[in-house]
Amino acid sequence: MSDAAQARILKNYLTDHGRSLLHFPAVEPRIEDGPALSLQRCAKCHSDSGDHGPLHRVHGPSIRALLDHGFMPPKGALTAEERSALLVWLEGK
Ligand code: HEC
Repeated sequence: MSDAAQARILKNYLTDHGRSLLHFPAVEPRIEDGPALSLQRCAKCHSDSGDHGPLHRVHGPSIRALLDHGFMPPKGALTAEERSALLVWLEGK
């Protein structure tokens, strides 16, 4: 899948969601919307100690789009348990 195709999928997806962030630099102002995603399958790359900054719920639409289209995690799909833990976190419950 090319970057252009990935960008198009994200753009289409994000037009349905008013408020979201698409690009997340490692250092960005923290948004107080609850705890960062701690799921190990994601946090090993997306966390303060990872190559990418932590993921927050404000990133939800991008997280869902990349998850649904199989871009994240880069290797191996989440188990049903991991996926439901991620969705519970996204819902903020
Ligand atoms: C092995 C490391 C790795 C793991 C594990 C991983 N990611 Fe990523 N993620 C990346 C990389 C690298 C990019 C940037 C991709 C690009 O620029 O094309 C990225 C990009 C993203 C983005 C787009 C915003 C950004 O930071 O660039 C989101 C959202 C995301 N990942 C969510 C997840 C979620 C959710 C999981 C767990 C289900 C996950 N990732 C697991 C490496 C990882």
